[in-house]
Formats: sequence, structure tokens, C-alpha cells
Amino acid sequence: MTAGKSLLDIRGVETYYGNIRALNGVDVSVNEGEIVALIGANGAGKSTLMMTIFGTPRARRGTITFAGTDITDLPTHEIARMRIAQSPEGRRIFPRMTVMENLQMGASLDNLKFFDEDVEKVFTLFPRLKERIAQRGGTLSGGEQQMLSIGRALMARPKLLLLDEPSLGLAPLIVKQIFDAIRELNRTQGLTVFLVEQNAFGALKLATRGYVMVNGVVTMSGTGKDLLADPEVRAAYLEGGRH
Ligand SMILES: Nc1ncnc2c1ncn2[C@@H]1O[C@H](COP(=O)(O)OP(=O)(O)O)[C@@H](O)[C@H]1O
Ligand SMILES: [Mg+2]
Repeated sequence: MTAGKSLLDIRGVETYYGNIRALNGVDVSVNEGEIVALIGANGAGKSTLMMTIFGTPRARRGTITFAGTDITDLPTHEIARMRIAQSPEGRRIFPRMTVMENLQMGASLDNLKFFDEDVEKVFTLFPRLKERIAQRGGTLSGGEQQMLSIGRALMARPKLLLLDEPSLGLAPLIVKQIFDAIRELNRTQGLTVFLVEQNAFGALKLATRGYVMVNGVVTMSGTGKDLLADPEVRAAYLEGGRH
């Protein structure tokens, strides 16, 4: 897939929790049409970066630009209206609402005329959700909840989809289904994806480009293929894993 122009540009971002600096000058860019993976150990700051894009917590230094607009200090709801959507770590579906109600929650008021069409697209991507349409979110399996979390994000018709650890805690077969769906979205709809994963092997295989984060800074970047082949990456994130 040939990459288009820059869609998300993160420059020198520093984010704190109180006095603790979790991000220490992060530079990451995502171009239109790419799948970009951010890998790193637990506690590296991956989720903090995802959340900083949405403004909670807020970047104390640096800039975040989306589609040419500086969103660093925009309120979170305005950032969402720029058509950035996320499936957060832990999925965060609404457990007492049905599958359909969860999808309704993801649709933005600006797009209600597309609602039926968009729901159908989600069900085509994840037929399992259609079978569970009236079931409460909390009764779904982990994999189904992850599908619902991604489906709900897609209902916002995003230009950029942020995924935080979509494979966490799922069986290998389900992980493959989720990663296949992400590849499909990118290939058929040209959707741009920024993916955070501890599953470095799966993420780098899927990604156009990748970044490695250690202790709140990016230490390496390159094509998914190059990072997969890199001895340092292999030693730190892949040895002993599935590859
Ligand atoms: N709400 C919070 N309050 C204080 N520290 C936090 C909070 N969330 C995360 N941290 C700390 O920030 C660092 C980065 O965490 P996180 O972004 O969750 O890493 P990752 O997603 O890569 O596992 C860790 O040291 C973590 O303990
Ligand atoms: Mg995390």
C-alpha cells in the first residue's frame, strides 16, 4: 500500500501524571492509508500516547497535528468530532447494553443517515456480532467484546482508527480474526490505523511501519518488515514469542 500524506503528526510530546513524566519527547507520524504499529513492553507509555492524542491526559509539551489542524489543546469531544475513533485498552464496551445499543453509542449524530449502512458494514466484517445482536455486551466472549469495541469505533466513520492492545488476552485463532479484520479495513476501505500492541510479532506483520517505545521515548522506527528482521527487536520483543 502506498502511503499518502501525513494524517497524524506527533512532535516532541511530553505527558505527565502529576510529577511523573510518562512521555519524554515522542515523535510519531502516521500517513494516510498506513497501518502503523507502536510496540513496547508493559509500562513503556503506549496507552499514555493513545490517550494523549485524545487530550486526556493532556500533552504538557509538544504538538499533535491531525489532518493539518493542531489538536494539542482541543477539548476531547472536539477531537472525536474530527473523526478520530478508538478502541481503548480493555475494550470498554457498555456491558449492560446490547450489541446493537453499543453500536448506536458509537455513531455520531452527524452521520445518522448512514446508520443502517454502517451497521451492515460492521456485521459484514464481524458476522459474530450479528448473531449476538440482542445480547448484552457483558455476556460476550473476550474476542466478541473486542470486535464490538472496534465495531463501535467504526460507527463514527473514522479517518483514523486507534487500537490499544486489541489482541490482549485473546486466543491465537481469535487474534488472527481481529488482525485479519484490521488488514481488510485498511485494504478495502483505505482506513488509516494506529495500533498499539505488546504482540510485536502480529503487529509488525500487519503494519506498514512501526515504532518501538521504551520508557516514554521512541527508540527505533522502520518498516514493519525491517523491524521484524532487526536483531535488537527480535531479542527484546520476539524471541520466545510466536514467530
Ligand atoms: N493514571 C496513571 N497515573 C499515574 N501513572 C500512570 C497512570 N497510567 C499510567 N501510568 C504510568 O505511566 C507509565 C506508562 O504507562 P502506560 O502508558 O499505561 O504504558 P503501556 O500502555 O505501554 O503499558 C507507567 O509507568 C505507568 O505506571
Ligand atoms: Mg497500555
